[in-house]
Amino acid sequence: MKRDLLSLWDLTSGEIIHIIHRARSMKEEWARNQLKKSMAGKTLGMIFVKPSTRTRVSFEAAAYRLGGNCIFMTEKDTQLSRKEPLADTARVLSRYVEILVMRTYGHDDVVELARHATIPVINGLTDSFHPCQILADLMTVEERRGSIDGLRAAWVGDGNNVAHSWINAAAILGFSLTLACPEGYDPEAGVMEKARSEGRGEIILTRYPREAAALADVISTDVWASMGQEEEAEARRQVFRPYQVGATLLSGAPPKAIVLHCLPAHRGEEITDEVFEGPQSAVFDQAENRLHVQMALMEWMHEGSA
Ligand code: CP
Ligand code: NVA
Repeated sequence: MKRDLLSLWDLTSGEIIHIIHRARSMKEEWARNQLKKSMAGKTLGMIFVKPSTRTRVSFEAAAYRLGGNCIFMTEKDTQLSRKEPLADTARVLSRYVEILVMRTYGHDDVVELARHATIPVINGLTDSFHPCQILADLMTVEERRGSIDGLRAAWVGDGNNVAHSWINAAAILGFSLTLACPEGYDPEAGVMEKARSEGRGEIILTRYPREAAALADVISTDVWASMGQEEEAEARRQVFRPYQVGATLLSGAPPKAIVLHCLPAHRGEEITDEVFEGPQSAVFDQAENRLHVQMALMEWMHEGSA
């Protein structure tokens, strides 16, 4: 049976841990030139409606490292731009490629693509979720901290797509997550309700970044205006200013706490240059780990989940 990754709820806790551990092994195997070419003769297709640096290049590089190929399309390059239905696009592309990644606005679009595709579909970011990002984030936490068990995570900023995927991860894996968001910018109620009713982790919402950071092993943040919210950027800058991750906030966190940001970052807005470039920042390991977890994810989709 094909397996999709549209949100982290598509994976069990055991599968998430397996993918992270396999990613760490693959990182070493690549360094020793011993990586198995599990995508030899296979092709990854990618349809991107929003821009991307990391997701696009890390998936392409992942496919090539595994001996496969990659075809990247923006929506404009395809007949989607002339209203060919996603259902038809999914059935056609399933005859050409072995895995599809889609980055778009509405989450319903990746759900529709996956419903009609006969091959695995991966969400490369929607307005609602960014599951591959959080796999990389958790891998980075495990590398730095040794384990995800007993993790205390903090999210400071917008209750957005990346925050939603952190909530899913906390619920599935059973770790503690405190989110500090300004009023009006909380995570969606449905995401919180599912996490609390079906999940295990303790998920707390606060208005106070210092409360979130106080006991945190990891502090994550993200842009104040996501892709598609450009017109709100100035208004958001005013509301979010107290939610900047800077030296003052870190002074109230455990000294071992690491700082994550999925990137791209706006220094001087959600994160100060000092923290971004400082010793607690793990943002470039985090970005690198996108490549490794996506190799592990694609290998698992081909081999492990069968
Ligand atoms: N973090 C992330 O998904 O980056 P891109 O938008 O560059 O893909
Ligand atoms: N929340 C951001 C993440 C970018 C990787 C956005 O959706 O634009």
